[in-house]
Amino acid sequence: MAQGRLTGRVAIVTGAASGIGLASAELFAAEGARVLLVDRKPEAGERALERVRAHGEAELLAIDVSDDGAGHRVVREAVKRFGALDALLLNAGVHGSGATPAERFDSAIATNLRAVYLTAEAALPELCESGGSIVITASVAGAVVGFASPQYDASKAGLIGLARHLASPWGRHGIRVNALCPGFIETPFIGSGWSAEELAEVRRRTALGRFGTPEEIARVALFLASDDSAYITGAAIVADGGWTIHFTDH
Ligand SMILES: NC(=O)c1ccc[n+]([C@@H]2O[C@H](COP(=O)([O-])OP(=O)(O)OC[C@H]3O[C@@H](n4cnc5c(N)ncnc54)[C@H](O)[C@@H]3O)[C@@H](O)[C@H]2O)c1
Repeated sequence: MAQGRLTGRVAIVTGAASGIGLASAELFAAEGARVLLVDRKPEAGERALERVRAHGEAELLAIDVSDDGAGHRVVREAVKRFGALDALLLNAGVHGSGATPAERFDSAIATNLRAVYLTAEAALPELCESGGSIVITASVAGAVVGFASPQYDASKAGLIGLARHLASPWGRHGIRVNALCPGFIETPFIGSGWSAEELAEVRRRTALGRFGTPEEIARVALFLASDDSAYITGAAIVADGGWTIHFTDH
């Protein structure tokens, strides 16, 4: 049998019950990884697990990654269930919700930024065993202003800085850390965040004239998680169909 690009590796994917995380978990499993799916929605998580198991070995941990101690729990579970850890796709993300600006800001930062940092910190000592790769789902919203909320843009910009910051000292241990910056991707996430008019405007301004698919982003995540990107670290890789290339209207 042909070797997959993640054969023999153990991977964690957060936000794995839907969208980009689910497509990535399926692809990672199809490429030979044993995958721990992490999501706060247990039922959707079970459905996702069934889909991923059609491709390879997988387990589910239903947990809210923004809970105190969740980062350590996620890493512990992967090592307990699979005996090692080689790659993480830290992907769970929210727009940020709440009645006040403070609540919306705190909720976005807690899931999008703080949980990613704490999970990466918990994983780094384990990754020292294997070298390894941390892929952080940021967004083009971390670099340009579009239609997202202030708390979302701030959290995603923070992730790009975080990937750079972690890549620097941990490179000597063979560990790579990169930010993946999708543009507009067809998942439930865009339906809940932007109006139909805003989405039509995005499509009009996108060079390729369409939104991306979760599978297209999963292939970028696989590239960054695998040895195919062995000399890339601290980078922010944009996959936006040419949405951010325009300086003026066209
Ligand atoms: N869809 C897009 O256009 C787009 C563009 C750029 C970046 N992103 C980013 O990609 C990532 C995935 O988004 P998606 O479009 O696949 O969204 P999605 O809504 O389809 O999936 C997100 C998943 O994350 C889970 N999740 C959210 N908060 C969680 C938490 N605190 N703990 C555990 N699980 C949690 C949800 O339950 C859901 O299953 C997010 O970080 C998002 O910001 C998406």
